[in-house]
Amino acid sequence: MAYKVPFIDPKLHYQNLKAEIDGAIQDCLCNGDLIYRHQLREFEKDLAEFVGVKYAVGLNSGYHALLFALMGIGVGPGDEVITVAHTFVATVSAIIHCGATPILIDVAPDYNIDADRIEAAITPRTKALLPVHLNGRVAAMDQIMSIARRHRISVVEDAAQALGATFNGQMAGSMGAAGCFSFYPFKVLGGFGDGGSLTTNDPQVAQMASRLRYNGEDRETGEYHYHGQTALLDNVQAAVLSVKLRHLPVWLKHRRGVAERYRRGLSGINNLALPHFPETGQWDIFQNYVIRTRARDRLREYLREAGVETLVHWPKPMWEHRGLGLKNPGLPETEAICREVISLPMSAETTFEQVDYTTGQIREFFSRRGPDRS
Ligand SMILES: Cc1ncc(COP(=O)(O)O)c(C=O)c1O
Repeated sequence: MAYKVPFIDPKLHYQNLKAEIDGAIQDCLCNGDLIYRHQLREFEKDLAEFVGVKYAVGLNSGYHALLFALMGIGVGPGDEVITVAHTFVATVSAIIHCGATPILIDVAPDYNIDADRIEAAITPRTKALLPVHLNGRVAAMDQIMSIARRHRISVVEDAAQALGATFNGQMAGSMGAAGCFSFYPFKVLGGFGDGGSLTTNDPQVAQMASRLRYNGEDRETGEYHYHGQTALLDNVQAAVLSVKLRHLPVWLKHRRGVAERYRRGLSGINNLALPHFPETGQWDIFQNYVIRTRARDRLREYLREAGVETLVHWPKPMWEHRGLGLKNPGLPETEAICREVISLPMSAETTFEQVDYTTGQIREFFSRRGPDRS
């Protein structure tokens, strides 16, 4: 079905950048630059500079950034890592694949880890905190970093949804021992397939990730240091991402403008919660514009019929997926969120007209239902 307002529009995105992107791809293909060439090194340099860290290591997914970051700080069997269940499954899978145990705690109303609950979850086995900067909003990093310092544990930032978001002027992915980014096409910096990067100021973490992604090999010496993986960011993807990174600051401002337009259109509707939280240090970049209502499923259907494409991140708590083998940690806020959230169209191409149409449809939905029904 062709939506009147698509969630994102990858074809239009490409058309708008066609000349630049085609040039970058042709440059790679015509010169045979396919694996670990100057385009990848240049992208890593630009990304590190953008995030404000010494090193960026290009990988083939955000999942691998998480896995290698955790391995890089020494997480292994017997360790515990504290994180949230209201995240993409890769956050938790990376902990499991290190042989460690994820300790899942609840989130605050802004969908990020509830920092007030962290200390109660710390045990002698806790090796790291893994906050997720969800929907483009950085978690309460001042509190998180000070807890980590007090307990002498590391912090790995899952910044997959937060490239360009800041906390007290510091970029997501620059505050912990490592930051983890995803370039999945829906992300603020999306490739033409999977991609990711680890960012860090720690030369040892950077070196380990650089080797792990290349089956454990040190490219300079040819020595294999570990049993690694094949997890390098493709050179062509890096070339495309370099083009897009130059546009990112404008896109992020646009997203904030779109969010503000949604706010204007949706303020004052009973029983509808909007994602505008006090920016107590944060500068949110709205990877997703997530609204919350108990009438979520009916609203979603109404919008679908009106031609507005929406997504739900995520409809079922992670522990209810039996195959993941997770115990129910009893997280009421996470459970409620799964029933109530819906993400509205949001991208660099989303127009104010599309936002106005969407907010108009949402208003109509609620006015038809009457003011006092939840
Ligand atoms: C919060 C979060 N963490 C981790 C990931 C994993 O990234 P990737 O899909 O690139 O492996 C994603 C991607 O959707 C994400 O949203």
